[in-house]
Amino acid sequence: ANALRLGVAGLGTVGASVIRLLSQHGDALARKNGRAAKVVAVSARDPNRDRGVDVSGLTWFTDPVALANSDEIDVFVELIGGDSGPAEDSVRAALSAGKHVVTANKALLAKHGVELAALAELNRVSLNYEAAVAGGIPIVKTLRESLSGNAVNRIYGIMNGTCNYILTRMERDGISFEDCLADAQRLGYAEADPSFDIEGNDTAHKLAILTSLAFGTKISADDVYLEGITSITTADIQAADELGYRIKLLGVAQRTDTGIEQRVHPTMVPKHSAIAQVDGVLNAVAVDGDFVGSLVLVGPGAGGDATASSVVSDIADLARGCRTNVLGMPADELADYTRAQMRRH
Ligand code: HSE
Repeated sequence: ANALRLGVAGLGTVGASVIRLLSQHGDALARKNGRAAKVVAVSARDPNRDRGVDVSGLTWFTDPVALANSDEIDVFVELIGGDSGPAEDSVRAALSAGKHVVTANKALLAKHGVELAALAELNRVSLNYEAAVAGGIPIVKTLRESLSGNAVNRIYGIMNGTCNYILTRMERDGISFEDCLADAQRLGYAEADPSFDIEGNDTAHKLAILTSLAFGTKISADDVYLEGITSITTADIQAADELGYRIKLLGVAQRTDTGIEQRVHPTMVPKHSAIAQVDGVLNAVAVDGDFVGSLVLVGPGAGGDATASSVVSDIADLARGCRTNVLGMPADELADYTRAQMRRH
């Protein structure tokens, strides 16, 4: 088969790692998948910046929408970020042009996920987003595929690497909040606007996506109760420690008598619990399913290479020809929604 032609929009930390991963493991992946996947074009603002990866020979776009519409590509890989502007415009353009989309953009999915899923349905293409939740942890596929036989009662965990890194270093090294945040930014963990990390919005975006997958509901980020870690002090962490607890920023979604409750806030967790052992940039996602019981997935929640690992897993699915029902919403509900969208067009 011809190689699957990829266009990568955004060459920040994650974009550069995706290019490096594919140049390192592209041949092995092609053998495994029975089809090669090759980056043929990229878009980024500054063509001259040194990103530590070889981008020579690739077609260069400065406008991601032009890349999304280009006949040169089969798959649009969106790594720009942001819930509107170039990221939104280019993803809509790509889906409308009949191109598969792979994205790491949790903010975009939290805001427009249902519409974008319908647009993908309408154009019979995939919208894949393993990298959008918990970086390198394969929680999207785990919920959608491996745990699909379960009714989920609760899903919760540490979903922001930056916050967990800050809380861990404040506790362990007594370093100030500001210095920890500066380190997290330097290491490429934080969002372009780090207030999204520390105010809890990033966790809320990821939780909203997981809630949809776990409970089969529409994504609804506005329903998440939200409290970040900006008011946590070293003294709070010490006080918790003396009582036998650690402070973690948790996202929690659970079934209640009145519906699905979603919340994000700093939480005192007993030191001996599995979640309390999860340190630094690691994330953890715990799922309670009625048949499987309880399980916890732990792994790197941010950083270029770990996130690239998830992005490439979505590309590999496309190379193998897998198309998936993109959200946890029941297929008939999504089809109704899609038909309603079609009537509007
Ligand atoms: N800023 C995010 C985090 C990146 O710290 O977890 C991964 O989504």
